[in-house]
Amino acid sequence: MSVPSHDALIAEVLAANQRLLEAIAAGDWSTYASLCESDITCFEPEARGELVAGLAFHKFYFDLGKPAAPRHTTMCAPQVHLAGEMAVVCYVRLTQSLDAAGHPQTGRCEETRVWRRTSGQWRHVHFHRSANG
Ligand code: GLY
Repeated sequence: MSVPSHDALIAEVLAANQRLLEAIAAGDWSTYASLCESDITCFEPEARGELVAGLAFHKFYFDLGKPAAPRHTTMCAPQVHLAGEMAVVCYVRLTQSLDAAGHPQTGRCEETRVWRRTSGQWRHVHFHRSANG
């Protein structure tokens, strides 16, 4: 099997990352889980400063139900560092949604997401997200 070019790998991992963010926004657990390794690790505000491993922590939020109103997610100025079969993707994430009164609002956070390419598929292995600001 031929290895895609550097640019093609970057396009692939950005597409996988966007798909993951859209799965989060839509509350789509099956897509989210299909993109993640079962031993994924993370630092995120919900984890209160602890390093969390595994998918169960994340499934809790998906199990609360899908969002009532649509949300739209944008990766701003994403940068990708490729190293063999590993990729680090970093960017500011904007999430547009509606508040309780139905007014549009935009959440903002910094994210770093690490991916590993296994058998031609990008799988998410670690992320670090700042508080929503
Ligand atoms: N809290 C799930 C994620 O950001 O991947």
